[in-house]
Amino acid sequence: MATSLQEEHTESIKNPEAYWAKAADDCYWYKPCDKVLDDLNKPFYKWFNGGITNTCYNALDFHINNGLGDQLALIYDSPVTDTIRQYTYNDLRDEVARFAGVLNHNGVEKGDRVVIYMPMIPEAAVAMLACARIGAIHSVVFGGFASKELATRIDDAKPKVIVSASCGIEVKKVIPYKPLLDEAIRMSTHKPSKSIILQRWTQKADMDPKRDVDWNAAMSMATPQDCVPVEATDPLYILYTSGTTGQPKGVVRDNGGHMVALKWSMKAVYGVDQGDVFWAASDVGWVVGHSYIVYAPLLKGCTTVLFEGKPVGTPDAGAFWRVISQHKVKTLFTAPTAFRAIKRDDPKGGLLKDYDLSCFKALFLAGERSDPDTLKWAENNLNVPVIDHWWQTETGWAIAANCMGIEILPVKYGSPTKAVPGWNLQVLDKNCEPVAVGDIGTLAAKLPLPPGTLPTLWQNDNRFVSAYLEDFPGYFTTSDAGYIDEQGYVYVMARTDDIINVAGHRLSTGAMEEVLADHPDVAECAVLGVADQLKGQLPVGFLVLKAGTQKSHEDIIKEVVVSVRERIGPVAAFKTATVVQRLPKTRSGKILRGTIQKIADNETWNMPATIDDPDILGEMEEALIKIGYAGARN
Ligand code: COA
Ligand code: AMP
Repeated sequence: MATSLQEEHTESIKNPEAYWAKAADDCYWYKPCDKVLDDLNKPFYKWFNGGITNTCYNALDFHINNGLGDQLALIYDSPVTDTIRQYTYNDLRDEVARFAGVLNHNGVEKGDRVVIYMPMIPEAAVAMLACARIGAIHSVVFGGFASKELATRIDDAKPKVIVSASCGIEVKKVIPYKPLLDEAIRMSTHKPSKSIILQRWTQKADMDPKRDVDWNAAMSMATPQDCVPVEATDPLYILYTSGTTGQPKGVVRDNGGHMVALKWSMKAVYGVDQGDVFWAASDVGWVVGHSYIVYAPLLKGCTTVLFEGKPVGTPDAGAFWRVISQHKVKTLFTAPTAFRAIKRDDPKGGLLKDYDLSCFKALFLAGERSDPDTLKWAENNLNVPVIDHWWQTETGWAIAANCMGIEILPVKYGSPTKAVPGWNLQVLDKNCEPVAVGDIGTLAAKLPLPPGTLPTLWQNDNRFVSAYLEDFPGYFTTSDAGYIDEQGYVYVMARTDDIINVAGHRLSTGAMEEVLADHPDVAECAVLGVADQLKGQLPVGFLVLKAGTQKSHEDIIKEVVVSVRERIGPVAAFKTATVVQRLPKTRSGKILRGTIQKIADNETWNMPATIDDPDILGEMEEALIKIGYAGARN
């Protein structure tokens, strides 16, 4: 590796083919690619075109064939069921090969889709890797989404089979997954031919003998399957993420570019080597879970930790320290909200004294902006580098980070440090021109994107182009606004669309507005993300009611809260709404979201020049005070 981040970064931008060809040498290919970067059909770039590989082979069999079969591949730690289970690479490969046989037996072949709707149990990772093994395309749906969201994804991905479990466990609550799945299948137009259900002893599910297959029974009769060679450009998975409407975007990930970039990132970004224990405290339903619970640590030959618990409440704010010391975790990756929860329950870090954390070398934070207070709290209490890094579902790995495996740079609080090699990051104005150093604009990456990023949206090239490439020709827009300082440090300030970030979970206020607008008494509505000390942001709804509505405001508010929970899911954390007479708008009819948000957060705001009727803002402020925001926040 080059000696400085700058050298490495320059090399990756000047000569991306040579840079990533070198990284690809670290992976196993049945046939090397014909072209490292195929740009014949811009803006649809293809990494490692012509290469033949298998991601599951690289994540499991490759290590076994290199003598690592007895090394731990995965540790399942579940305080909610009081279980710890360890899998060596041999064990995990055997489970995966057998589950690949189950999929095969149930009609799944290369290119077929499999939806996985599971809690944080090792079988979720087994199912993902089994799909990769036979060239099927998985689409994991986060367990906190409701049936309607699951149904939307089923209709888009059209899976042959769905893999699920009888229940999930949220601290002390048992969440029956199977009824949610059954309801989703009832709602969806596309019907999968089979559901493979893992019956958990905590709560068993009723089975439909025509459609449901019992995981354990099927595994006991399965014929293990070998890896199926796939094209580097074949899709490995689809992961749906919030867009600006209720229709989520199906982010596609390929096999070759993904494998190369993720394996490279383990050393370059996280400073982690084969044999190290790496823990991403997230969920397999999010991109962090795909990249850094399942694929990257296994591709690198690490031991990954799969934790079915929470930072607090399972049983206390010392849970993270217990897991780190018990399993000798070298590197932890989580969202800042997890640390805010720990800091809230144990402000002095008193529980740290109970554990030996000498194995622990670095904490990485991502998923939302790291507030300097939380970051400093972690630094002071843990005495290890605490690294904020910035990325998104679309990119699959970090756009900006302090790269531990290349050169550790001084931390600037509020900044995820500098662009990672592969990312030609610019700050652009509306005319697609770079802004002056330090000025705010849209953070955009010059094409081609590095490997491992999204090649397109699932069966929707047009939406891929219109959502990401059209506004800034020649660039990919991250939809994050920010700036880059004179030393090249990146600052990510806010989304430029209506996405909000609730406890590190990405949610669309547009999707929530669609639910609110469907209430028969609601004439008009808006949902905004307001600042929250624990979750970063929380959604708040504003409802304008139809004239002559008979129901009380309280009842309508209760009903919309229930509807969001039922249609989007508990993860939306939509619990607050208020009725207003009117919504503040510009003369052209656009809701003044930025101004309402500033009022809600009790920040200084200026009267917008384009406002239709300035008095409305006073009314808005009163409504916000009544529900505990705006002036009530002092
Ligand atoms: N299945 C079913 N329900 C789920 C779920 C899942 N997988 N995950 C969350 N939920 C439910 C929760 O039970 C909660 O329901 P409730 O309204 O009945 O209480 C709701 O969705 C909101 O969950 P969550 O956002 O997790 O909030 P919380 O108040 O339960 O916990 C934190 C707050 C900070 C402890 C929690 O968000 C956390 O651990 N965050 C870690 C960060 C993280 O994983 N980020 C992911 C991206 S890296
Ligand atoms: P997701 O696709 O769910 O990973 O969410 C991605 C979005 O989360 C980004 O577009 C940012 O808005 C936000 N985000 C993620 N990491 C960071 C970070 N380190 N700093 C600021 N915002 C972040």
